[in-house]
Amino acid sequence: MAALVLFGGGGDLAMGMLLPSLYFLEHDGLLPDGLKIIGAARSEETPAEYIAKVKASVESKADGAWSDDVWARFAARLDYLAVDATSAESLKPLKDKVGPGECTSFLAVSPSLYARIVTAMRAAGLAEADDRVVLEKPVGRDLETFREIDDAVSDAFSEQQVFRIDHYLGKETVQNLIALRFGNTVFEPLWNSQNIDHVQITVGETVGVGDRWPYYDEYGALRDMLQNHMLQLLCLVAMEPPADLEPDSVRNEKVKVLRSLRRITPEEAERVTVRGQYVAGTSEGKAVPGYDDERGLDSDTETFVAVRADVDNWRWAGVPFFMRTGKRLPEKRTEIVIQFKEVPHSIFEGGRGVIQANKLVIELQPEEDISLSVMNKRPGLDQRMQLQPIRMSLSWGQEDKDARPPRRRIAYERLLLDALNGDSTLFVRRDEAEQAWKWVDEVSEAWAEGQVKPVEYAAGTWGPREASYLLARTGRSWNVGNE
Ligand code: BG6
Repeated sequence: MAALVLFGGGGDLAMGMLLPSLYFLEHDGLLPDGLKIIGAARSEETPAEYIAKVKASVESKADGAWSDDVWARFAARLDYLAVDATSAESLKPLKDKVGPGECTSFLAVSPSLYARIVTAMRAAGLAEADDRVVLEKPVGRDLETFREIDDAVSDAFSEQQVFRIDHYLGKETVQNLIALRFGNTVFEPLWNSQNIDHVQITVGETVGVGDRWPYYDEYGALRDMLQNHMLQLLCLVAMEPPADLEPDSVRNEKVKVLRSLRRITPEEAERVTVRGQYVAGTSEGKAVPGYDDERGLDSDTETFVAVRADVDNWRWAGVPFFMRTGKRLPEKRTEIVIQFKEVPHSIFEGGRGVIQANKLVIELQPEEDISLSVMNKRPGLDQRMQLQPIRMSLSWGQEDKDARPPRRRIAYERLLLDALNGDSTLFVRRDEAEQAWKWVDEVSEAWAEGQVKPVEYAAGTWGPREASYLLARTGRSWNVGNE
């Protein structure tokens, strides 16, 4: 019988995301038969107490998917053990609970504990050949610390057994991007510098850092979001068609993109990056404090970052990739915009000015949608043809209307299922994480060397105006939120 162990089983990630995701998988009949789910954490509580907490959390997230029968089936899988996960001695009873079958361990704990936990797991027999380990980001805070942790992980597990999570890869629309690019012939011939002017990736959040600051202050937006989620999105847009969807086929292509990213030198950093930090302002109609006020003292950590990245290869030469992410922005909006070039010549009255260049918008949040803007004739008998832009949704065909899923899936559902099935296509390989750290380290080193401090922006705005200038300097503008 297989087991899933959730280290940090009582923490926010496990309670808020993992256990609700597992419940939904149970609801849809997707959990492997006989799978045991064991919460493991420091707190001394009985399995019954733990299960009661899980129930409260799952019920609050389940909405229409709550069912007493499903819960009864799910609860029957659950168990709990109080452990010190860094001690092999303390993990032995856990090994007994897991039994002889394959075991997937999810480390939903502080990454500073990863190295000690995997070492203890190995000694306790929880890192056998069939076992797997799932690591939540961030693994390390730079290339060096990533390697330290990952070396300890690879002493205990082979690369095939390690599943480094980036929950953005579990998002439905991100996978839809792969379907769109490689399941159609119409986009691929256009997917290059001849036709695409630039690419934008925005991950805007309305939330502030709040009481997460002890973690956040050490990482900042660059390491928290750009090193992982945003570079992963960039890779999926920029990669060459893989031979198939096997884990290494896809990951080989992503690594090539990361290796092609142009270095950001200290001289360049000022021109191609923007660091920001929110000060007091208004968010969703309420007055909110600045980051320093939440933090309790002055900090140089960025809560906003915008970067121009260049992918130096044949396909993308001359096509900038603009990325920006920030806390306390006006909207929770995540989108990838593929901005096509303008028509070379306009046959319409008004010249090229009346024609908006085509734009493919892949929206992850607030809606999950892919839309293409095209120019269209305004209906009517105008003597001279009048044009108008229209937006066509490519996500749901007419025939799919009834198939639209009733609820948005949690990204972890897909990823937990894949980890349990041993499919690592949507997980990050070691060399991929290393390349991403390498590039991001150069940015943070350039900031340190040039003493680039975050620029203030008021909470509730789209970041410092320098982020708008970053594009404006090249004659471009953000799809939303320009100064
Ligand atoms: C996490 C970051 O990885 O992603 C958080 O640590 C961020 O700071 C979160 O809020 C955003 O995820 P999502 O899925 O809500 O866009």
